[in-house]
Amino acid sequence: MDTVRFIVGVILPYLALGVFAGGMLYRIWVWRKLASPPITLFPAPPDASANAWNTVQEAVLFKSLFRGDRGLWLLAWAFHVVLALILTGHLRVFTHADALLARLGLGEQDIQAMSSGVGGAAGVAILVTAVLLLVRRLTVRRAREISGAGDYFALLLIGAIVVTGNMMRFGAEHFDLNLTRGYFAGLFSFADVSGAPVLQHNVFLLHMGLAWLLVMLLPFSKLLHFGGIFFTHQLIRKH
Ligand code: HEM
Repeated sequence: MDTVRFIVGVILPYLALGVFAGGMLYRIWVWRKLASPPITLFPAPPDASANAWNTVQEAVLFKSLFRGDRGLWLLAWAFHVVLALILTGHLRVFTHADALLARLGLGEQDIQAMSSGVGGAAGVAILVTAVLLLVRRLTVRRAREISGAGDYFALLLIGAIVVTGNMMRFGAEHFDLNLTRGYFAGLFSFADVSGAPVLQHNVFLLHMGLAWLLVMLLPFSKLLHFGGIFFTHQLIRKH
């Protein structure tokens, strides 16, 4: 078990970030190499700034999906907004973001109340939307036909990360974030973190290990559609 703790807690973080950085460089290189024919597809925004604004609307509001499939839009948009909220909340896991919140006038109790209220609700909401997205993939024939193993794997992996995150959030004894902050400060400064107390927490180890797996998978999976959109939307709207 100590070997597993060492691999997940000490080796995996650096490995995952390395694979992610290398994979992203490769992806960007592939995207840049894509054919970029001088065609205009309707409706093309009149100039470059309108084009950029359109891309932003696509990325933030999922504009085309809203027009195409209102039900899927609602689910997908809710899922992504809650995910963004959760990832922002995770800044408290990695850093002393509380000091910043305190400067904004929030007391320790306010921060805890906000964290458990918003974090707890977000944890449940993302689980519900992820399950609904999976059910849709399995039950809507059109969606099932175009789904591959990679799609199911990504959803199940995210589901497992969410469930283990919720286990920490709603567990009998509340998780002490000072432990994760000390551990990540050690990782960032390349100190020896093999004896970090947080690595003794099995659910945390599983949650983090699965999250690093997701990070490594990102550049090579469809989950990277978020990056691709900036290339393809610029491409199809080109004059
Ligand atoms: C290395 C990366 C990550 C670490 C170290 C980490 C760590 C943590 C910790 C310590 C908690 C408990 C927070 C508390 O109870 O106060 C938590 C909760 C949670 N995590 Fe993560 N996490 C990581 C990545 C992710 C990712 C990628 C996702 C989503 C796909 C995620 C989803 C959640 C959820 C849904 C919760 C419960 C709700 C909440 O507290 O916001 N985590 N995580």
